Amino acid sequence: MPVPPSPPVNQFEGGSVFLDGAFAPLSEAKISMFDWGFTRSDVTYDVATAWQGSFFRLDAHMDRFFRSLQKMHLAIPYSRAELREILHGCVRAGGLQDAYVAMVCTRGVPPRGARDPRQAQNRFYAYALPYVWIASREKQLAGIDLHVSERIRIAPESVDPTVKNYHWMDLVQSMFDAYDRGRDTSCVVDAQGHIMEGPGFNVFAVKDGVVHTADRGVLEGISRRTALELCAHFGIPVRVAPLPVARLREADEVFLTSSGGGVLPIAKLDGVPLKAFPGPVTTRLHDGYWALHDDPAYRDPVSYAP
Ligand SMILES: Cc1ncc(COP(=O)(O)O)c(C=O)c1O
Repeated sequence: MPVPPSPPVNQFEGGSVFLDGAFAPLSEAKISMFDWGFTRSDVTYDVATAWQGSFFRLDAHMDRFFRSLQKMHLAIPYSRAELREILHGCVRAGGLQDAYVAMVCTRGVPPRGARDPRQAQNRFYAYALPYVWIASREKQLAGIDLHVSERIRIAPESVDPTVKNYHWMDLVQSMFDAYDRGRDTSCVVDAQGHIMEGPGFNVFAVKDGVVHTADRGVLEGISRRTALELCAHFGIPVRVAPLPVARLREADEVFLTSSGGGVLPIAKLDGVPLKAFPGPVTTRLHDGYWALHDDPAYRDPVSYAP
């Protein structure tokens, strides 16, 4: 399916969607209530970001999206070059500089009564919104209090966590666990009591200068990868291995990684202040993460020009 010509800048101020082969304002975004993406979480997606008018690591996000599509037996009618053009078009049409840019493919609606997912026509849409932070600036300054929920993340043998997915019932309920206890956000564990991930982020602990994060059962976040690459660059030792809850609780520093904010320091675990907030390792990685936004190797300037 050909991509329509790039829309004018700011045509749909504040955000735009690409749906059924055309750009439109966000308010026109609709999916059928019968789409399996909605009724069965039969969907994959990715979220890239643009910062100060440039995408950050867009290739890594598109690679992950195409890998996820393949693993899910989903397909979109666009090439990689066309997908890139569509994502640029969404940011451009929304007149955005700092943006949250989603690409989504749902199974679609199979013919009435059909139970066979192969009969559904997959549906693709993309949209750009103003940049979304997983925690507000005030909350980040005041210090995020992370609740370690006892909820067990859906097993990787059931739902492949490296496919970015909408299986969030465990994550959303863990957020309520956190709010019930007066905490700000949450992370979940596996059946053996290892830290997995949280609603929209990977979790890291720093102990005696070593950075720890889970090796399996989690989305391989692009910001997680950036943090690990920065550790290699700075010569900070890392241990990517099962991370027991006890190791997190005795950590000197804890931080989260997400495209919704990069590297975010945690101040407290279940109300107990960490030894350092923001700690020196977290601060180094945080600053390194944002400095990389100026690196031409990671930037893809949005094509605003007509
Ligand atoms: C479950 C989950 N884990 C981790 C992440 C972080 O991934 P990324 O760094 O690519 O934003 C996300 C992002 O939304 C997520 O949904």
